[in-house]
Amino acid sequence: MSTNRVPPGSDDEPTPNQPSRRRFLQSAAAVAAVGAAPHLPAQAQTQPAAPASAETRAPEPPRPVTLNVNGRAYTLQLEPRVTLLDALREYAGLMGTKKGCDRGQCGACTVMVDGRRINSCLTLAVMHDGETITTVEGLASNGVLSPMQRAFIEHDAFQCGYCTPGQLCSATALLSEFGNGTASTVTADVRSRPTQLSDDEIRERMSGNICRCGAYANIVAAVRAVHDGNTGNA
Ligand code: FES
Ligand code: FES
Repeated sequence: MSTNRVPPGSDDEPTPNQPSRRRFLQSAAAVAAVGAAPHLPAQAQTQPAAPASAETRAPEPPRPVTLNVNGRAYTLQLEPRVTLLDALREYAGLMGTKKGCDRGQCGACTVMVDGRRINSCLTLAVMHDGETITTVEGLASNGVLSPMQRAFIEHDAFQCGYCTPGQLCSATALLSEFGNGTASTVTADVRSRPTQLSDDEIRERMSGNICRCGAYANIVAAVRAVHDGNTGNA
């Protein structure tokens, strides 16, 4: 005849203050089952229908967008999600504008739109339909480098050159902004026009353009030279 007796000294032998291990596990399993049971039907009933994923959604069809870049009109067929940076590089074939981070952190993609500098990776091309855009390819005129381009060469303001198109566009727009009296965060009195383009002003106003080669000191010198009218004939 079999018995359910627990061998003395085994893990399952109860002690006066402690339940047997087997009984403890049985109790724990029962509690877990009771706790989970009420939720199961509720979960089955309230499971929402899966939303359509981006892959299953029909893409927006391309539409014509006209960008006036460097004096030439480009009418491109673009999906609304195409950034201005990709429109310039991949559709208009203007590869001078560089893609560094593609998220507004490096400034390599800086171009000027209606005279104002922007990060072209952070804006959609369709938002600039009909607007006037200047990229690095548009800074020179009839084969003659702009004063800022000449100053960058004279002051050795680049090494690998990857950031340079953005630096040049940013620096060119910087001088216009300063000339228009736009204050920066280091302008001592923002209620009045900044009168002096100090090196601090240049550094602050160029701070959105990162240079991994660290040519900052020479970039500041180049911007200063153009501001002061000290550009040679490179
Ligand atoms: S690529 Fe646009 S900010 Fe870096
Ligand atoms: S010159 Fe190389 S990143 Fe600026």
